[in-house]
Amino acid sequence: MSTTSFLNPVIEAARALLANVDHDNARAFLPVIDSAAGQPPIGEPSPFPLGDYPELHALGNDTTRPMLEAIAGAASSITWWQSDAARVPPGWVERSGATQLIGPDGTLVGPNQCRLGLFYLSPDLLYPDHWHDPDEFYLILAGSVKMSVEDRVEILGPGDFSVTPSGAVHSLETTDTPMLAMWGWSGDDTSFDSYSY
Ligand SMILES: [Fe+2]
Repeated sequence: MSTTSFLNPVIEAARALLANVDHDNARAFLPVIDSAAGQPPIGEPSPFPLGDYPELHALGNDTTRPMLEAIAGAASSITWWQSDAARVPPGWVERSGATQLIGPDGTLVGPNQCRLGLFYLSPDLLYPDHWHDPDEFYLILAGSVKMSVEDRVEILGPGDFSVTPSGAVHSLETTDTPMLAMWGWSGDDTSFDSYSY
C-alpha cells in the first residue's frame, strides 16, 4: 500500500466534483490536485476535534456521497485542526473542524497560490462576518448553510458551489444539521495574514 493511499480516494473524489463545476475558480484546482496526487502526505494524523467523526452520509446527495464516503474512510488518517481562536471571530471555533488537504502547509504539498481543504460546522452555529485577500470557494458536501457574501444571501445544500471574491465580507450559518464543505483559497498570496473580522 502506498503512503498516499489513504488520501487518494478523497482527492480523486474532490477532482471529480470540481471537474463538473463550470467556474474558473473550480478549474484552477484541477492541475493542483493532479500534481499533488502522487506525493507522500506530510504530518501525522490528528483526531477530528469534536470527537468521533460524524456520520454525514444521509446529509449528502448522489453527487457528493462518493466524496463523503472517501472522507469517512480516511477520517482517522487526516490531520484535522481547529482555527487559531485568537485570530478568528469568537464563539465558533470550538464547534468546528477543518483540514487542509493540499496547500503550502497541507497534508499534500501544493503551490502557494492554492489551498484546498475540508470545513465542518456544527448545527445552529454562526461563523460571523470575516474577509481575506484570497478568492474562496465552498462546495457543500453534506448538510446546508446560509451563506452571506456582501448583499447576497443564499441557502446552499449538497453539491452547491459558491465563490467569495477577494475582500468580500462573508458569513456562514448552519441550521439544525451540521455542514461539511470542501473549501478552496486561491490568489497570489494565500497566507492567512489578510484574514480579518
Ligand atoms: Fe472565508
